[in-house]
Amino acid sequence: MKITVVGAGAVGATCADNIARRELAEEVVLLDIKEGLSEGKGLDMLQASTLLDCDVKITGSSNNYELTANSDVVVITSGIPRKPGMTREDLIGTNANIVKGVTENILKHSPDAIFVIISNPMDTMTYLALKSSGLPKNRIIGLGGILDSARFKTYLSLALKCSPNDLQGVVIGGHGDTTMIPLTRLATYSGVPVSQFLDAETLQKVAADTMVGGATLTKLIGTSAWYAPGAAGAALVESIVRDQKRVIPCCVLLEGEYGQSDICLGVPVVIGRSGWESIVDFDLNEDEQAAFNKSADAVRNMNDILKTLDL
Ligand code: 2OP
Repeated sequence: MKITVVGAGAVGATCADNIARRELAEEVVLLDIKEGLSEGKGLDMLQASTLLDCDVKITGSSNNYELTANSDVVVITSGIPRKPGMTREDLIGTNANIVKGVTENILKHSPDAIFVIISNPMDTMTYLALKSSGLPKNRIIGLGGILDSARFKTYLSLALKCSPNDLQGVVIGGHGDTTMIPLTRLATYSGVPVSQFLDAETLQKVAADTMVGGATLTKLIGTSAWYAPGAAGAALVESIVRDQKRVIPCCVLLEGEYGQSDICLGVPVVIGRSGWESIVDFDLNEDEQAAFNKSADAVRNMNDILKTLDL
C-alpha cells in the first residue's frame, strides 16, 4: 500500500506520522511545495522508526509529483490554515486553487487513488475536488465529521467524567462552526443514551463546545489544531486500507440521501477499500432534519462562491 499526504504543515505531517507509526502502508510520501520541508519532516519521522518499532518507507517530496505515483490513498491537507477570529470559510479564495491544482497533479500519477480531503473549507473543497476531478463519487471523502465526533466525545467524557472510549457520538452536517450538528439524541455511554446521565442544559453546552472545538484551539494556539486532525486522517485511512467497513461521519456527495442533492456534506458512511461504500440513514427527527437542511443551505452558499473564483 502506498499513501501520499499532500501538505507537510502541522496537520499533514502529523497525519503522515500517524500513518507511518501505525504501519498503514508500506510507503508514505509527504509532499509540500516548500523546498526541503517534506524531506526534512519525512527524514525526522524515519529516524523515529527504531524507537517506535515501525518499518515504513517514508519519502519527502518538494513538489515532485512523480514520487507520488501509484498511490492508493491521497490525503490533501494543503492550503493555509485559519488564524484566530477566522472561519474555515474565510480560506476559500486561497485554498480552492491549491486543492484543484493538487488534485489534478495527483491524478496524473495516481489515476486510481482514493482522495481524503482535509483542506478547509472542507465541505466546499471536497465538492470542488469531486467536480474538477470527475472521479466516481465513492473515491472522494471529506474529513470533518470524524474529527468533530472525536471532539464531541471528548466534551461528553469531560461532562461525564468517564473514558471517551466508552462513548458513541456522531456529528453530521457541515464542518463549520455554525453548520455542524452533534447528534446528542443518539449519543450513548456504554450503550445507554447520555440523556440518562446529563441534563438538557449540559448536553446543549457539550454540543455548543463541540461546534467551536476547532476555533477554541485556534484561539489558544494561534493557528489550526493538528494532533486530532492528523489522527482523524490516519483513522479514516485505516478503515480504507484495512477494509474495516467502519461507519464514519464523512463529507460525501449526496444524491437525495438525507433530503439533499448535488452537495457534499457530512453523513454516516461505511468506509472500506473502495472508498465510501454506502450511506447509513440515522432516521433524523424533525429538529435534526431541519438543522441538516440549514447546514446544507450554508454549505451550498459556499459552493456557489466557487463559480465566482478564477479556478
Ligand atoms: C479543525 O477543525 C483543521 O478543520 C480542522 O481543526
